[in-house]
Amino acid sequence: MSALENLPLTARTSEFLARKSHLMLIDGKWVAAQSGQTLEVLNPADESLLAIVPFAGEADVNAAVEAAQRAFNSPGWAKMKPDQRQRLLLRLADLVEEHAKTLAEIESLDNGKSAVIAEFVDVALSASYLRYMAGWATKIEGSTMDLSLAFMPNNEFVGFTRREPVGVVGAIVAWNFPLLLACWKLGPALATGCTVVLKPAEQTPMTALYLGQLIQAAGYPDGVVNVITGDGPSVGAPLTRHPGVNKLTFTGSTEVGKLIGKAAMENMTRVTLELGGKSPVIVLEDCDPAVAAGGAAQAIYFNQGQVCCAGSRLYVHKKNFDRVVADLADHAKALKIGHGIDASTQLGPLVSQEQMERVCSYIDIGRSQGAEVVTGGARSGTTGYFVQPTVLANVDQKSRVVQEEIFGPVVVAMPYDDLDQVAAWANDTPYGLGASIWSNDLSRVHRLIPKIKSGTVWVNCHNMLDPAMPFGGYKQSGFGKEMGRAALDAYLEQKSVMMAV
Ligand code: NAI
Ligand code: MG
Repeated sequence: MSALENLPLTARTSEFLARKSHLMLIDGKWVAAQSGQTLEVLNPADESLLAIVPFAGEADVNAAVEAAQRAFNSPGWAKMKPDQRQRLLLRLADLVEEHAKTLAEIESLDNGKSAVIAEFVDVALSASYLRYMAGWATKIEGSTMDLSLAFMPNNEFVGFTRREPVGVVGAIVAWNFPLLLACWKLGPALATGCTVVLKPAEQTPMTALYLGQLIQAAGYPDGVVNVITGDGPSVGAPLTRHPGVNKLTFTGSTEVGKLIGKAAMENMTRVTLELGGKSPVIVLEDCDPAVAAGGAAQAIYFNQGQVCCAGSRLYVHKKNFDRVVADLADHAKALKIGHGIDASTQLGPLVSQEQMERVCSYIDIGRSQGAEVVTGGARSGTTGYFVQPTVLANVDQKSRVVQEEIFGPVVVAMPYDDLDQVAAWANDTPYGLGASIWSNDLSRVHRLIPKIKSGTVWVNCHNMLDPAMPFGGYKQSGFGKEMGRAALDAYLEQKSVMMAV
């Protein structure tokens, strides 16, 4: 175990982590895996053992899905009025806020990210999102239709639609924003009256387990939310193919997203997929180079670059290219690398050894394909999974570092000549999650926005998310939306009712 007692943690964090060996939540009970197997969870800042959690398998998945099915049909949940569902979600949001420091610290120790940033971004957004979705619980509406039935002109009919919860939701999330991603799934599911089996990533299960305690404290009936820990093959795959799951929602790699999409079709399970990205940051001619460099740094280095919509490709008008790249490199060099619990840390470790090696191997691929390493370019230190913030220039649009998601603090920078060229390059990857345009030239910005094939376009900002704004990908970045009113549709069926009167 790491020397947790030497860290300035809240009493709640210390108490939670002092358990060392944790259980998972099925049907309102904290249980071990039926097989008795366990999984080690490491602190990526020092590679020490943070916790031991159950390594669940198919039998546990079955138990969790059955619990969720029973809860879905139980009067305590199925007959609960919308205002009660709203009240429960508001209570959960209050608890998340009350435990904000602890959730942030656990997230930091588990994922590596800065606890200060986790508190002000991950946890605050989680609470704000749960509250936003709480509001929708009482605003789920169908429509009434005036019917013509042309072939029965002398009869009268009444038509209306009802929205009904889809049922049991299987939610599989990634490790980059463990708590926030869990809340993105739980919010609309619990607002609409679904029940959930949540599978956190094997690298970062701890805040989901802590959230399980808060869900119980909020007063949710047993089985409405189940949290099971394990890896993709042991838990994710059986959950994906379980016929008792009515809807799958996934955040993670495009590769696994495709597997989940195919498995979903087998049972006609509804599915939404929030997948990878290679989002461009497009700096127009008029943009102040200092503003562009600061924006580009935030776009790629936030959360160590482990962001699905990270600004990982930087296109700068050739007039300002050298200046912006030099300033960006200065920003990168100034970032303080360190343990996420240290309040002065700006860049923490990557989540795992595997991710660190993947990112470093991409930097090497870039080098071998002719990229110039402007700054960074290697692991930082020898303990912990730190990677230097890196800028690659002189890259070819077709090279792998431009086309593939790296998911680390690595940006590729390219100069361009004109708007049509940069629009074509911006769209020239398999992905389409986000893009940002940096300019005050309104007419150019407006001409560019419709040309960009991505789910979100930011102007003079990047990585900005709000519960009211739908978020999701074009192309291989997935389908379906999270957040906003649009997110509810994925958790609701629409029933048409026609009555002869
Ligand atoms: P992954 O897609 O394998 O993992 C995400 C989640 O899927 C985890 O909970 C995992 O246990 C689960 N999973 C894995 N295999 C599964 C299967 N066969 N069936 C059901 N669930 C399964 O991501 P990984 O391997 O951790 O990272 C690989 C790359 O994926 C990263 O380098 C990055 O490029 C990308 N990625 C993108 C994310 C995003 O937010 N768009 C998040 C995480 C990774
Ligand atoms: Mg994987």
